Amino acid sequence: MSRLLEKINGREAVVGVIGLGYVGLPLLVKFGEAGFPLIGFDIDCRKIDALLNGESYIRHISIDPIRKFLARKQLSVTPSFERLSEADCVIICVPTPLTEKMEPDLRFVEGTTETIAQYLRPGQLIVLESTTYPGTTDELMLPRLQTGGLEVGKDFYLAFSPEREDPGNKDYHTGNIPKVVGGITSACLEHASALYAQALSRVVPVSSTRVAELTKLLENIYRGVNIALVNELKILAHRMGIDIWEVIEAASTKPFGFTPFYPGPGLGGHCIPIDPFYLSWKAREYDFATRFIHLAGEVNVSMPYYVLEQTAEALNGRRKCLNGAKILVLGVAYKKDIDDDRESPSYAVMELLLERQAEVYYNDPHVPRLKAGRKHDFGLESLPLTEQNLAGMDAVLILTDHSAYDTQWIVDHADLVIDTRNATRNVTRGREKIVKA
Ligand SMILES: NC(=O)c1ccc[n+]([C@@H]2O[C@H](COP(=O)([O-])OP(=O)(O)OC[C@H]3O[C@@H](n4cnc5c(N)ncnc54)[C@H](O)[C@@H]3O)[C@@H](O)[C@H]2O)c1
Repeated sequence: MSRLLEKINGREAVVGVIGLGYVGLPLLVKFGEAGFPLIGFDIDCRKIDALLNGESYIRHISIDPIRKFLARKQLSVTPSFERLSEADCVIICVPTPLTEKMEPDLRFVEGTTETIAQYLRPGQLIVLESTTYPGTTDELMLPRLQTGGLEVGKDFYLAFSPEREDPGNKDYHTGNIPKVVGGITSACLEHASALYAQALSRVVPVSSTRVAELTKLLENIYRGVNIALVNELKILAHRMGIDIWEVIEAASTKPFGFTPFYPGPGLGGHCIPIDPFYLSWKAREYDFATRFIHLAGEVNVSMPYYVLEQTAEALNGRRKCLNGAKILVLGVAYKKDIDDDRESPSYAVMELLLERQAEVYYNDPHVPRLKAGRKHDFGLESLPLTEQNLAGMDAVLILTDHSAYDTQWIVDHADLVIDTRNATRNVTRGREKIVKA
């Protein structure tokens, strides 16, 4: 047994996590709870300072365990990457976004790999968790890590294990979601599996890093394609005068062969709108067109336009137009009860409304003000949800169905409610004011 394996099994191996965001932070906590000594790395000094001061920056992740680990000196957090040599196991959770041209932006993975290569020493395990195309671990990372002369599978170990975080999910969290792991060599797989087995409930070993990389993409493409399917069917059902939500509910009673997906104002979040394009980009190298991914992308990207159209039509029915209309958007987080607004379709809808000269306001109990992003800079603060504010609007658009929203109360006080999430299904009074979009 290698010395590293002994340290892992004895929970003495120092676990370093690079990138303390939505994925890295809960993972750090899990290894801390299993008793491992920890080092958290991030280039964002504001995050490091917040953690050192015991302050949380992700609402649904409790800061208490971090405070406890810091107080016990079980954890240190730092922007100094020379401390990488202290870690026995290094887990990379940095962002993998798209460029403006919708191509993989691997700057963060590349940069991190080059930094690790500078400090790589014999006996270390490196695991990439960031979502990416098949081949990233063996084509992009491995050559960079081997430049110093260390040999993979012998001197150091390299693996890929995708993160399957579902923020806000009360049943499934980092600790009990099965963990798929693929290694460059069998020794790499053995070491990475041993590490995760100490902190998580189930490890699913696969034969290569490429299988593990494509597994994650399949999961997200499956969601993206199925959401596109129900989004398209929603538009048809609407034209046919059928309520798609009732259809999905009825179909869901089939005990086999049907998994419900729900329509909405478009796709959001860090994963589903982005990850499929990592695969379609890589597929080009193989002269292969990923048609389902493109079609799903096309349908999902068009959904904010559908919401806009439905809003314009509903206003038209009230002898009003979008130009000058006061519109309140409810929810900018990309899904219910979380504070993550990355790639939120609400922003696409707001932008379309602004282009048509509407006066746009928003409310989100989880997002008090809108930060300037890569694509948008609205400079807005969440408008308090009061009877007066609701009554002063020409239309209220429910784009995220946060549990905090009392939809009957909203319908009672609004003039027109455009509901993209079936949030008003239990509303009994004022149904004539509701338009499903
Ligand atoms: N958020 C999710 O629900 C989710 C789920 C599954 C997979 N993923 C994947 O996990 C990866 C991370 O996503 P996230 O949501 O945690 O992102 P995030 O933006 O919340 O966190 C990433 C962190 O990495 C830090 N960082 C960036 N470059 C760095 C560098 N060179 N060195 C050290 N730190 C650096 C950032 O400051 C940030 O704190 C992505 O590949 C994403 O696709 C995310």
